[in-house]
Amino acid sequence: CLVFAVAFLHAAVAQSNTTAGMTDSNKQPPPFVFGTASAAYQIEGAWNEGGRLPSIWDTFSQMPGKVANNENGNVADDFYHRWQEDVELMKSLGVQLFRFSLSWPRIIPKGRGEVNQAGIAFYSRLIDALLAAGIEPHITLYHWDLPQALEDEYLGWLGERVVDDFAAYAAVCFNAFSDRVKYFTTFNEPLSFVFIGYDQGIHAPGRCSDRSRCAAGNSSTEPWIATHHVLLAHVAAVQQLRSIAPDAKVSINFNTNWGEPMTNSREDLEASQRYLDFNLGVYADPCFLGDYPSSVRKAVPSLPHFTTEQKAALKKSVDYFALNHYTTNWVSASDSGLQKASTTYVRDGAPIGPQADSEWLYVVPWGMRRLLNYVNKRYHHPAIYITESGVDVPNENSMPFPDVLQDDFRIDYYREYIENAVLAATVDGVDVRAYFAWSILDNFEWADGYSKRFGITYVDYKNGLKRTPKQSAYFLAKLFGRHPNPG
Ligand code: NOJ
Repeated sequence: CLVFAVAFLHAAVAQSNTTAGMTDSNKQPPPFVFGTASAAYQIEGAWNEGGRLPSIWDTFSQMPGKVANNENGNVADDFYHRWQEDVELMKSLGVQLFRFSLSWPRIIPKGRGEVNQAGIAFYSRLIDALLAAGIEPHITLYHWDLPQALEDEYLGWLGERVVDDFAAYAAVCFNAFSDRVKYFTTFNEPLSFVFIGYDQGIHAPGRCSDRSRCAAGNSSTEPWIATHHVLLAHVAAVQQLRSIAPDAKVSINFNTNWGEPMTNSREDLEASQRYLDFNLGVYADPCFLGDYPSSVRKAVPSLPHFTTEQKAALKKSVDYFALNHYTTNWVSASDSGLQKASTTYVRDGAPIGPQADSEWLYVVPWGMRRLLNYVNKRYHHPAIYITESGVDVPNENSMPFPDVLQDDFRIDYYREYIENAVLAATVDGVDVRAYFAWSILDNFEWADGYSKRFGITYVDYKNGLKRTPKQSAYFLAKLFGRHPNPG
């Protein structure tokens, strides 16, 4: 495998100044496998079918003004009814792994108690079809759609009881699917759903400490309480998995931007470390090193403590490093805020890289290479699965249809992130096993509704949700197409 990687590097270096590289028929595919990723609320639709009850995202998106154009996931890509077509599409593109999330309110509609067999049957059929198509399923248990009943009962992630309820839900999923599924993650991007949902108030359940922004004004301790419950729920779920399916592999989908120091000053270097502690370390340190980063502990007096047993359990709670990554920003020291770090995408009037459609996304492949090396070093050389990476094309949503399909901006992103970041990192000695493109389909982009398109496949929302692969889909198919050992 090492020989393979080195041979590929030579090829990549020889072609690094050309854009024709990826279509060169002599070129070897990368030494990691190709996946695509998705999430239940973003694609499934069928929000009130098959026994499903509302989640906090149904409630939130139906509140006027919370989502762009007041859109919601009621129909989304209608994956609930069209999954067979989408599995066929992935097969035709040579996708080797498919990451999807289970909808908790489809499986246990009230969050606790009765299991909805129609929900289990839906995912069971999907898993069987994926396996029959030679695509390995990677399951995420929680991609932000908490059953509304648990929000009503005890404010979701703020309530201590959520730990047991999540573990019971996880056990149902492991019992139903671990005979066929080997890879699970408990939570998708806790940093995002906790801080955007409980600090900024921009995602469900829309809570934040600033009453001018959020009707549900709360205290700034909430994100930290939610964080702690998420980590305890993760451990409790993993304990279920270890007894139900000892051979399965589990992780959390961690996420962070890379934070590059604005200057070489000691202050900026320290600020960028604090930035990584507050974004990645707050979840990854407990799982790999047994506790929150000391910088976070110091700055947040209300941060709860783990017991000695919890710390030990946390350190055994992940088998690989699942990383979602999109972009990089500059970081400099600041006097304000908990992190005492400020961030920007612009330095000396110049953007850090080409800007995508989403305002938070700039194309910076070198940042990803640095992040992968950082993760490798800090967390002691874990196997890394890049469980999301992708981009939306500037003005993609307002382009004429044929132009949308020629998504060169996205092709460049994937080429550069895969070759100059991930592949380069493997040559640096980082153990990357897979790269999942976000996303297989255009879909419901949370507070941005359908106005942002991250798919490698175009979905025509105005014409029967017709799917048409964009050029980037064919690019990725070709790039990974000859991998000798999927799995
Ligand atoms: C992060 C999330 O996991 C996913 O749900 C979202 O659509 C993408 N990144 C793009 O913003």
